[in-house]
Amino acid sequence: PDMRKYVDELPVPGIITSSPTQPIEIVARSTSTRFHRDQPKVPAMAYNDESYLGPTIEAHVGEQTTVHYRSELGEHTFAADLDTSLHGVADRYRRQPVTSMHLHGGVTPPEFDGNPERLMLPHHGTALFEFPNRQEAGHLWYHDHAMAITRANVYAGLAGMYFLRDGHDTGKPGNPLGLPAGEYEIPLILQEKIFRADGHQSLRSTPIVPQGMWEGGAVGDRGLVNGKVWPTMTVDRGLYRFRLINAASFSVWNLFFSNRMPFWVIGNEGGLLNAPVRTRSFAAAPAERFDLLVDFSSLAPGETVELCNDLAPPFQAAMLGEVAMSRFCRFVAGPGRGDRHPVPTTLRGGRGQPARIPPIATPQRVRRVSVSQPYELRVPPAIMSLNNLRYADPQIEKPRAGTTERWDIINITPDPHPIHLHLVMFRILGRRPMRTVEYQAANPQPPIGTRWAPDPSDFYAGPMRGPAAWEAGWKDTVHAVGGHVTSIVVRFPTADELGFDPDAIFSSDPTQTWTRPSGGHAVAPSPSGHHHHAGATPVHGMVTKDLQGYVWHCHILDHEDHDMMLRYRVVP
Ligand code: C2O
Ligand code: CU
Repeated sequence: PDMRKYVDELPVPGIITSSPTQPIEIVARSTSTRFHRDQPKVPAMAYNDESYLGPTIEAHVGEQTTVHYRSELGEHTFAADLDTSLHGVADRYRRQPVTSMHLHGGVTPPEFDGNPERLMLPHHGTALFEFPNRQEAGHLWYHDHAMAITRANVYAGLAGMYFLRDGHDTGKPGNPLGLPAGEYEIPLILQEKIFRADGHQSLRSTPIVPQGMWEGGAVGDRGLVNGKVWPTMTVDRGLYRFRLINAASFSVWNLFFSNRMPFWVIGNEGGLLNAPVRTRSFAAAPAERFDLLVDFSSLAPGETVELCNDLAPPFQAAMLGEVAMSRFCRFVAGPGRGDRHPVPTTLRGGRGQPARIPPIATPQRVRRVSVSQPYELRVPPAIMSLNNLRYADPQIEKPRAGTTERWDIINITPDPHPIHLHLVMFRILGRRPMRTVEYQAANPQPPIGTRWAPDPSDFYAGPMRGPAAWEAGWKDTVHAVGGHVTSIVVRFPTADELGFDPDAIFSSDPTQTWTRPSGGHAVAPSPSGHHHHAGATPVHGMVTKDLQGYVWHCHILDHEDHDMMLRYRVVP
C-alpha cells in the first residue's frame, strides 16, 4: 500500500505513573488503529486506551508496582496465521487469544514473571502481578509472552515501555544528572512491519510458507516508530533523551542519523553507563534498549534529519525482493531552542550520580550453551533450538543462587540471535569467531532432544573481541553474532538478596482470578472454594500445571515461539 514518508506526526504513548499504594490496571484489548494517514483503520491489539502498543509505565526503585491485568481481547488479529502444531497452541486461541504479560528486565518473583505457560483467557478474571522494583533504575518494557503465539501477540501490538526511576534518574526537569526530561525525553519504539494490499498488518513474511504455519521471521519493509509508519517529529534545537528499543520481531539494525551527526549512548537495558559514549551509529538487536542523548542544536530551523538503518535485510526479506528498510522517522528542527544542558561528562561515580558499574566479576564456572537450527535443510518443518533441545525437554540449566557464571553462547548459525535471560542482568565479556563447519563436523549434532553444546576451544578463528562501548553496561539481552561464541558474565542472586524465592513452585492459571492473601503466596482459588498452593484444578478443559523457574530465549519472536526458548531454575 501507498504510504508517503514523514506525513504522520510521531505519537507519544500515554504515561501511567505507578504508586506504591494504588494498583495499576492493564487491560489487553482488540482495537483498530491507523498506522498511516492515508490508510484505513485496521485491526490491532493494545493495552489500555492506546490503539496500538501500550502506555509507558513509570515506576520507582524500591516501590512495588502492583498490576491488575485482564484481557478483553476478541478474535485474534492473526487468527488465520496461528500455527496450532506449535507447543501448546490450541485452535480456540484464534477466537480466544491467551496472553501472559511479562515485565522484560524485571527482577520479578517467578509467579509474576509472565511465564509463557501461565496463560490467561479473555474475560476470565484478573491476574495479579507484583513487580518489586528492587533493582537499579533502568529501561524495561512489558509485552505479551504467551507460549508459541508471542510473535503474533506482540506484533499485533501488545508491548509498552516501563521506565524505572530513582533519585538520580528522576525523569524530572532539574534531575541531578542534568538529563533532558519531560517533553525532551521521548520513548522511541522501533518496529518494522509488512502490510497487506488492503492496509492490514501481515504476519507473513514469506510466501513459501503456507498460511497457518510458523513463518520463521516477521521481517518488515516499513519502519514504524511508536506505532506510525515513517513518522515525523518537530524538535527544538537542543538536547533530547531518546529511550529507544528495537521492538521488532526479527531484524538487527545499524542505526544512525542521515547527516551522520554524532550522538551519545548513555545507557543499556539495566541502567546508565559510567559515562556517555559518543558514536555515530550502533547496532540494535530485538529487545535491546538504548538510552540516547541527541543534540539538535546545530540544525537550522526547518532542517531535517532522519533516523536510518543500513544493515542489509535478512534472508527472508531479500527473497521478497526487498531492499534494506532504510528509514524510521524524521526530525524537523523547529524555531525553539529547547534544552541547553551540556552532555554530562560522567553518569556514575560523581556527585548526585549512582555508583559506578563495577568491573566484570570473575566467574566461578563456565556453562556452554548452543544456538542452532537443527533441521535447517528441511523446510518445513524447520525448528530453532537452544542446546539442541525443545522447550519441554527436561535437561534445563540450573545455576546455583549466589554464584557467578560465564555463559558461552555458541551460535553455529550464520544469523544473529538476541539471547535474553529472565530475572538477571549481565555483562558482555566478548565475542570470538569460530569455524562452525569444522566444529559441527567434529561434533555431529544428535537428533533434537539430546543436549548438545560441545567445547568450541579447538575451533576458534580469532581472538575474543570485547563489547562495543555502547553495550558495555548492564544488559538483559545480548546480540549473539552468527558464527561466534558470545560470552556473558551473569550472577544468579540468592533468595535473601531478592526478597523472594526464585525457585518457588506455582500453578499455571488458564482461567482463574488470582489473589494474594496477606502474608501468603499467590494461590488460585479452586472451584470448590478451597485455596491450595499448587495444582489448581483444570477449568474448561485447559491444562493447569505446576510451574517453576524462569525462561531464557532468543528474542527473535518467531524463534522463541518455535522452540528457541528453554526454562531454567536458580537453585539453592
Ligand atoms: Cu522480552 Cu522473555 O522476553
Ligand atoms: Cu533466534
